Amino acid sequence: MLRVLLATTLLATPALAQEAADAVAPEGATAGLTPEAAAPVTSQDWMVAAANPLAAEAGARVLREGGSAADAMVAVQAVLGLVEPQSSGLGGGAFLVYYDAATGTLTTLDGRETAPMAATPKLFLTEDGERMGFWDAVVGGLSVGTPGTPMLMEEAHRRWGTASWSGLFDDAIGLAEDGFPTSLRLAMAVTGDAERLSVHPETAAYFLPGGTPLQKGETLRNPAYADTLRAMAEQGADALYEGEIAEGIVAAVRGAAQPGLLSLEDLAAYKVVEREAVCAPYHGAEVCGMGPPSSGALTVGQILAMLDRYDLAALGPDSPEAWRLIGDASRLAFADRGLYMADSDFVPMPDLLDEAYLAGRAVLLSGDMALESVEPGTPPWDHAALDLAPGLDLSLPSTSHISIVDADGNALSMTTTIENGFGSRVWAPGGFLLNNELTDFSFATHDDGRPVANRVEPGKRPRSSMAPTIVMRDGAPVLVIGSPGGSRIIGYVAQAIVAHMDWGMDPQAAVSMPHLVNRFGTYDLEEGTAAAALAPDLEALGYEVNVRGLNSGLHAIAVTPDGLIGGADPRREGVAIGE
Ligand code: GLY
Repeated sequence: MLRVLLATTLLATPALAQEAADAVAPEGATAGLTPEAAAPVTSQDWMVAAANPLAAEAGARVLREGGSAADAMVAVQAVLGLVEPQSSGLGGGAFLVYYDAATGTLTTLDGRETAPMAATPKLFLTEDGERMGFWDAVVGGLSVGTPGTPMLMEEAHRRWGTASWSGLFDDAIGLAEDGFPTSLRLAMAVTGDAERLSVHPETAAYFLPGGTPLQKGETLRNPAYADTLRAMAEQGADALYEGEIAEGIVAAVRGAAQPGLLSLEDLAAYKVVEREAVCAPYHGAEVCGMGPPSSGALTVGQILAMLDRYDLAALGPDSPEAWRLIGDASRLAFADRGLYMADSDFVPMPDLLDEAYLAGRAVLLSGDMALESVEPGTPPWDHAALDLAPGLDLSLPSTSHISIVDADGNALSMTTTIENGFGSRVWAPGGFLLNNELTDFSFATHDDGRPVANRVEPGKRPRSSMAPTIVMRDGAPVLVIGSPGGSRIIGYVAQAIVAHMDWGMDPQAAVSMPHLVNRFGTYDLEEGTAAAALAPDLEALGYEVNVRGLNSGLHAIAVTPDGLIGGADPRREGVAIGE
């Protein structure tokens, strides 16, 4: 039987681990990579898919009452910040892709965290010029960027909202005041992270009351969060960017174990940025998503544009040859990502989706064996090329994804994060965790005298892998999808799109299927699933393989002539709800 296991690092106790495995194992899955997943959720008018049932239900209530996808997102995010505080919230950032049915336009909003103006490229270097240890950098105030999620919520509502802003917080305020049962996943995450959560007393008091980690089912209340949401409902997002709540954020960052640089001026200056959607062709459709500072749409787009020249449909999901093509297309795209991709407001970038360039890169896939080595390509520049050095970012899986289609046909895909599980572990007095997004920058500033594109700079946004995606055909959405998962997000999203578009899987099957991800050469195969059985074939093709947990959280909605079809990743606690 195929079982999908949570990442082993989260398996805090054997009992919790077994319960988690039982909770997420897809029912009746077959051998082979096509899962017999649960039936997808279908509906006629609207649908929401999110990582926690209470959050999805808050969005469903808004949609049931005639609200727009943007309205529903505000309600979903407000509840997610309470019930899944380890993944996203008011102290973090998000990217949103929105299709506005009234105008037929697709756009993106960048609510990414921003480096404080006092930050320098040496933010994560020791006095000796060495890179800081990852956890030394993450835990504390130094990693905290200016949050963007509250302002993104408000901006989306200002543009596309139809419901009253203040009413969108009702469910979250009620849950924060009355309490809600701690989920299995949150309880596991707290137990697994108890040491780091104990660094700051305020964080420990919330997640380890009386020194004991929160237990599954334990009622959790957060009156400070209710007060913050009430202020946001009354005053708008400004309530978090100036005044008492903002002062509390800055005091928490500056008073943290590792004091950070965030200032009231950084908060006051924060802006959500509208950016043109980045789209790549795939099978006559356009796969559209978030451009820089995210590498998501460019990297997913490169992978799919290269694969478009090969017949994955004929090969099928159980073919090692299909995975050779997918794996090496991904490695080629990640090589370009490492060298070129960063916040394009700071770093000029070549045309990474140039058709002729990608046709040339796709030719590299035409052999029989895994590529022996993979180098960045030389895409065309419309200005002088920079001599950059490749950079590494260490973004780890946390994050959450929301997919929504409303009754008017508006579609929203938003990936939202505080970066690491529990972010910086710094608790703002307003009742939420602060992000550690700045560790998505390269710690190194230069390599061999050449600058790294994704180095820290004041006011810059760290490179992301988040890939909120809307697939468009003939100018209208056909698939809304995205996932958490650090830099493996790119592989999860690309694979699910291939599963749906090439292998005919419905959204539930596409998000449930075992994962195979290759970024830098080693093939990650999902532990406990049929993916692991491909190891000998992939090794024979020349890959090193690594069998491990691959903890995505894909949420997908297909828009079809017969209605909406949705799926929620069985590896997490999410659901799709539609009517
Ligand atoms: N922090 C996860 C990402 O932005 O990719």
